[in-house]
Amino acid sequence: MSKENLLTPYNSDNLNLKNRVVMAPMTRSRAANEGNVATDEFQGLYYEQRASGGLLITEGSQVSAEAVGYINTPGIYTDEQVEGWKKVTKRVHDKGGKIFIQLWHVGRVSHPDFHNGALPVSASAINPNAKSFTYEGFKDTVTPKELTIEDIKRTVKDFQKAGQNAIEAGFDGVEIHSSNGYLFQQFFNGCSNTRTDEYGGSIENRARFFFEVLDAMKEVIPQEKIGARFNPSCHGLFGMEVDEQTIPTFEYIIKKLNDYNLAYVHLSEPFTDVSEVPFAVTEIAKHFRPLYNGTLMINTAFDKEKGDKVIADGLADLVAFGKPYISNPDLVGRFEQDLEIATWDENTFYTAGKEGYTDYPAISK
Ligand SMILES: Cc1cc2nc3c(=O)[nH]c(=O)nc-3n(C[C@H](O)[C@H](O)[C@H](O)COP(=O)(O)O)c2cc1C
Repeated sequence: MSKENLLTPYNSDNLNLKNRVVMAPMTRSRAANEGNVATDEFQGLYYEQRASGGLLITEGSQVSAEAVGYINTPGIYTDEQVEGWKKVTKRVHDKGGKIFIQLWHVGRVSHPDFHNGALPVSASAINPNAKSFTYEGFKDTVTPKELTIEDIKRTVKDFQKAGQNAIEAGFDGVEIHSSNGYLFQQFFNGCSNTRTDEYGGSIENRARFFFEVLDAMKEVIPQEKIGARFNPSCHGLFGMEVDEQTIPTFEYIIKKLNDYNLAYVHLSEPFTDVSEVPFAVTEIAKHFRPLYNGTLMINTAFDKEKGDKVIADGLADLVAFGKPYISNPDLVGRFEQDLEIATWDENTFYTAGKEGYTDYPAISK
């Protein structure tokens, strides 16, 4: 047992944080409608209010127009978007905070409505049979277009450019969103990747696109400023399924990340009960901690007690809080002073306006 807990500073060669409480990336659908731009008024205030966290990770932010799959989610590929984010990073830095941007491509979890009628893209032409939230409400997803090799190379470049943009916008780093059933995981998992070229079949092939992005990213950003997020036992979300190859695929990826010098690897415990799902791992931190030598961040359903314990047990270095951060902008202050944790209102997770966004009060002194 170590004596560290959530409130102890974290210092590694790559990351110096005032505490180990991280704000998990969360889509809130409040970007300006025109141009998917983050604004001072919305995202600026929202992240500033939460700047006492050791590290903030923004909501998923698209790396290209093709990467979009939700309404009013911010991007990081146009000049206007970069200018918008500059105001946000400044406000967080002025409050002594640190902020990474989550770089996102939804792949097949999208709808032709977002692409002037064109098909969303994925590893293979397999419909996730999910719902896409469009400007006209929920619609059924469609069978996506399989990315050609040329398309894949272009997408690698999109991520690289978005990484460059992120640094220009003042972010302390980027998190690659290789989680939760979106494009990278569509390559990792057999249920969504039936390719027979060098991006499909073997574990190494299914991980290739991710590592190509990582390698391209580290040409333009120091790798100490890059993190990556995974949800290995993601099952039932956007058509994702765990099979016998899934966990070995993540073991391969996470072990291989020891050859890099990343800011951190961010893992989620399962979002749902997977105790009955064959081949799923139910305790992610326990399973993967021994495989990775660098900074490990863990997430999902933590509170102060569980967070302190996972750190003290040596199973993770940092803990990311999602929903508690929505309704407790001063989550760190509340942990410090043992104050009550306010509950969040699911009805305002993705609605427009400030209600349920920047109107949760801070109560700590
Ligand atoms: C409103 C909402 C939006 C989310 N958006 C994202 C996102 O953009 N990117 C991501 O990786 N995870 C996203 N998640 C997942 C969270 O980061 C986190 O993994 C999940 O909420 C579990 O953590 P918690 O139990 O602390 O809430 C979202 C979750 C919520 C509740």
